[in-house]
Amino acid sequence: MDSIHIRGGNALFGETKIQGSKNAVLPILAAALLIEDVCVLENCPRISDVHHMLMLLSGIGCRVGRSGQTITIDARNVSEDTVSGENVAGMRSSIMLLGAMLGRAGEVTMGYPGGCVIGERPIDLHLNALRKMGVKIYEKEGVFTARAEKLEGAVIRPCVCSVGVTENVILAAVRAKGVTVLQNAAKEPEIVALCEFLREAGAVIEGIGGSVLIIQGGHKLHGVRFRIPPDRIVAGTYLMGVLGTGGHIFLEDAPVAQMHSVLRAAELAGAEVIVSRDGLSVMADQGRKALSLTKTEIYPGFPTDMQSLLMAALTTASGISVIEETVFENRFRIVEQLKKMGADIELRGKRQAVIYGVDSLLGCEVTADELRGGAALVIAGCMAEGETVVANRHFIERGYEDICRDFQNLGVNIYTEYGEKKIEKKETDEKNKYR
Ligand code: EPZ
Repeated sequence: MDSIHIRGGNALFGETKIQGSKNAVLPILAAALLIEDVCVLENCPRISDVHHMLMLLSGIGCRVGRSGQTITIDARNVSEDTVSGENVAGMRSSIMLLGAMLGRAGEVTMGYPGGCVIGERPIDLHLNALRKMGVKIYEKEGVFTARAEKLEGAVIRPCVCSVGVTENVILAAVRAKGVTVLQNAAKEPEIVALCEFLREAGAVIEGIGGSVLIIQGGHKLHGVRFRIPPDRIVAGTYLMGVLGTGGHIFLEDAPVAQMHSVLRAAELAGAEVIVSRDGLSVMADQGRKALSLTKTEIYPGFPTDMQSLLMAALTTASGISVIEETVFENRFRIVEQLKKMGADIELRGKRQAVIYGVDSLLGCEVTADELRGGAALVIAGCMAEGETVVANRHFIERGYEDICRDFQNLGVNIYTEYGEKKIEKKETDEKNKYR
């Protein structure tokens, strides 16, 4: 079985470089469909969601190539309007091909993208927004065709501030006829990256980074070379790791300007963070303090993707912490797994978790069933006395290039079922070495 083995209980010391952002590269790969030219994307993470997206793109006629962290997409000969196959069903971000294919070809047939265990993940708001742009939706047995005789700009105001809906509207609007005004737009940094990519390709988008986007459709787009920004959730993962274990680490390339709410939470919990031009230094030697209430919110609030990671770190904080999940309806699934390791957590309904700090966690076998929960279990394993085995590594590989490599860089004795890589215990004077 694919698994990760961790011998925990030691503080983290070391430094590691933060990979490119999963949630930035996926919509930008979809956006390359809109450009009948060649695009080159640098700093792309080697993760399974990117692999699946590249399979989908090549399945509809793009020529894709990859060399290290650089991906080349030639979208001059996009042929089919059917996006299908297991790649669609198993991956949420395939929904982004909806807006891109409508912008490119005016039609697409696709299966309903897989939801996942954290929530039903409906696409009703996507479809309603696109209908306002003249798109007709024809549904049958779990597959639907979206078709627009003429994609037209519109004023759109989704009732929920949705990352994916914002991205799909942008992707459809850049090649629609006329102007689209999107209100209640999500402001995540990944959406800013998408807009910056499209603007460099010749799109005209105003209000980037704000909650009202004005997209002037119809501008000819040309190929660009673009660098994917670092992944703020991956950086936050290792930040929560050292918060949980103690120690001193340096995260090269951490996008600190996008992490204010996460850095604030870490400081309130007792970490000392020093931001610099080339990354983030974190010291956490004073023990962990409980956080009376952390609510997940849309950006720039505390990210829902960081919720499980914070929960793991707070399991041994002194005092009682409360976490409220406001975005997804089922995102406390790792509570049972953390309790197997000795955590003391009480659920109040589906939206609130109360964490009573315990002295320590004890390693054991646990099971991941989604991406960020899986990463949180790895953090708990780093914190726990003894060995922890996290089953279903494949969930974690959706978003982390090599979580074992990164945590090994930070001094953790961690490896996959394929082999134990001995880690020399870093001397305590290491901590004086880091910026
Ligand atoms: C994106 O998902 C991210 N995925 C998620 O990251 C992230 O957790 C989420 O945004 C929130 O920040 C990618 O970028 C690939 P939403 P998305 O639409 O776009 C409801 C990870 O770990 N909703 O902003 O699907 C929805 O159910 C993943 O990297 C509808 O009701 O999130 C949720 O409750 C997990 N109808 C809320 O909106 C719709 O049509 C916000 O979801 C669409 C969404």
